[in-house]
Amino acid sequence: MSRKATLFIPRVAVIGLGLIGCSWVKGLRVRGCVGQVAGFDRNLDSMQQALDVGLIDEFSSDITEVVRAADLVIISVPILAVRQVLQDIAAAIGDATVLTDVGSVKGSVAGDVEAVFGAGFGRFVLGHPIAGSERSGVSAADENLYVRHKVIITPQPHTDQAALRLVRAAWQAVGADVEDMAVSHHDEVLAATSHLPHLLAYSLVDTLANSHENKEIFNYAAGGFRDFTRIAASSPVMWRDIFSANKEQILKTLDLFQHDLNFLRSAIEQEDTTTVMGVLTRAKVARDHFSKILARRAYVEPMKTASVTYIASPAGSLSGSFRVPGDKSISHRSIMLGSLAEGTTEVSGFLEGEDSLATLQAFRDMGVVIEGPHRGRVTIHGVGLHGLQPPPNALYLGNSGTSMRLLAGLMAGQNFDVEMSGDESLSKRPMGRVADPLRLMGAVVETAEAGRPPIKVFGAGKLKGIHYDLPMASAQVKSCVLLAGLYAEGETSVTEPAPTRDHTERMLKGFGYDVKVDGSTVTLQSGGKLTATSIDVPADISSAAFFMVAASIAEGSDITLEHVGINPTRIGVINILRAMGGNIEVLNEREVGGEPVADIRIRSAQLKGIHIPEDQVPLAIDEFPALFIAAACAEGETVLTGAEELRVKESDRIQAMVDGLITLGVDAKGTEDGAVIQGMGATGRFGGGEIVTHHDHRIAMSFAIASLRAAEPIIVLDCANVATSFPDFVGLANNAGLQLDMISKPAAE
Ligand code: S3P
Repeated sequence: MSRKATLFIPRVAVIGLGLIGCSWVKGLRVRGCVGQVAGFDRNLDSMQQALDVGLIDEFSSDITEVVRAADLVIISVPILAVRQVLQDIAAAIGDATVLTDVGSVKGSVAGDVEAVFGAGFGRFVLGHPIAGSERSGVSAADENLYVRHKVIITPQPHTDQAALRLVRAAWQAVGADVEDMAVSHHDEVLAATSHLPHLLAYSLVDTLANSHENKEIFNYAAGGFRDFTRIAASSPVMWRDIFSANKEQILKTLDLFQHDLNFLRSAIEQEDTTTVMGVLTRAKVARDHFSKILARRAYVEPMKTASVTYIASPAGSLSGSFRVPGDKSISHRSIMLGSLAEGTTEVSGFLEGEDSLATLQAFRDMGVVIEGPHRGRVTIHGVGLHGLQPPPNALYLGNSGTSMRLLAGLMAGQNFDVEMSGDESLSKRPMGRVADPLRLMGAVVETAEAGRPPIKVFGAGKLKGIHYDLPMASAQVKSCVLLAGLYAEGETSVTEPAPTRDHTERMLKGFGYDVKVDGSTVTLQSGGKLTATSIDVPADISSAAFFMVAASIAEGSDITLEHVGINPTRIGVINILRAMGGNIEVLNEREVGGEPVADIRIRSAQLKGIHIPEDQVPLAIDEFPALFIAAACAEGETVLTGAEELRVKESDRIQAMVDGLITLGVDAKGTEDGAVIQGMGATGRFGGGEIVTHHDHRIAMSFAIASLRAAEPIIVLDCANVATSFPDFVGLANNAGLQLDMISKPAAE
């Protein structure tokens, strides 16, 4: 295979002809990146073999001969042998020779270099490839061993920049992804991710081998034993050295592990199955998460969201009867109240989207045992209003504003401190709107600049009930205050300027908590308790909205959306589409678990532009991106006012929609609190173009459905976040009649 070399090192010396060093050298050779290679090993046979297979050009049993005149010396020997090697070669290396190593512990090698060459020696670059195999020696050398694997380099303040560049380039040349880390951080991370697992594997095999029933055990040792102990077949000398060289960090993680193992042991002893289930479910979630990383074979690669693009091609009409995923707002609340209830809550129809999963993970982090989700079923072992435990780290809530704002209220009532953070979009969203009322209740809340996340809520303070007049129509702020009210002395009440979704109030009642609603004011007292219940989450009207608009604008369409939640505080989209001339029938109205539900039939219709009534705005707050598409397809002008809240959603939705519509050739303009859109009318078609979604799920889905009335394909960029609310949008949309292609690639570094 001929590859074009971008790097050329005239002379390389490799000390220690094991798998790691040989694979690197072979990789460089095959790619034409080295001239001469000299090799040294304590074992003469290995040197001869390496010469015979053409891995090295020369060897000598005098190590000084091997390194003399080398441009790069690769030291690939067991960790505790490094110092001796350095002493042996110190006098022989040239003034410009660069040295590097491949050891699994960096602190000890840094100490060796300092001891032999002095404190400021800059031409030794500490490195560690995260790759390997149980196979060893010259014959196992694999020129592709490092392709797409991480190599960690641990530069020090005195490391020479040219030396660093050379070693980095030599790793990159063999396909590795090079990352920098501090020496101490490397040793801490590796103790946990590599050294402890090896130690456990060796120890377990030894324990079982010493047991008098060992024959029995090894005869029947199938998958579990084999998988868990594979690494105990690695080189004992190498691992003896690593355990000594990284002693402190290994003991630290071992102590932590022993503590947790004892905890699990006593739960099993006491037949505390909930606690056992807690450990197992938490571990499974974490392992499933890591599997995605492991599947890419780079063992310490951080998770990066893939970049997803939709190519939405012009399509015909929509048909069929189907159910969109579960309601996001209700899913969040089912986890929150189920966790704080006494007893076991069963949830069905749960939205397995990233937002509601972020809430689920937050409660797992606070010690709640939650089984599932599995096909929308979740079992929550409630801990009671006062049973949450401090999470080990900051709660990471991804893209989900609902999680952060509602949790802020709940956290204010705990006796521990919590920090909450989110992704880039959430980090820009206003949290002052929840921090302000919580402070009035006596909570200590800190936000970053201008009231943005991360947000810290300090526990222990006693909350007092307040009456709060909401400055904006926000169900999240209302819910935050009410949830804090569960922990506040006396009565807490909230008055809203316009009706907003009331799922919190309904669900509190469903859990047996006394909540009074009087006009626009909701009141509750602390001191009650939540009793576990079952929750059937209806399909999300906010997800259904994309198909309501899609079927309305695509000629000849006739679809039925099943089991959709039609809570009166959420049906703005139906009211607005009907006012625009939409053909929408609400069928089989029924109530499940305190929430009204229906099947909704939508047939295409020629829509007309309207001035959207302001009282409908809070009732359709998440549906405006889709409604903007409806307006663009209508006959005449649509005017939206009183919707300034749209500017602080996952993106500035007024700007994002107006910009996208203009790209597709529509006459649209944004105003401070809304927009004016000139409809294209019955024969109008969107042009093609590239849509910037600002990573907002609803902007992405809205422009995907616009393709039903497009003359050319619409390219919708950055659609990964559709998974926050509508995991299989593309599958469902294509089944219904859209033509969406999804291009997914790993995000750029
Ligand atoms: C939500 C309330 C609304 C909505 C959001 C979900 C909720 O936000 O936009 O998607 O579950 O309470 P605001 O309270 O900010 O209007």
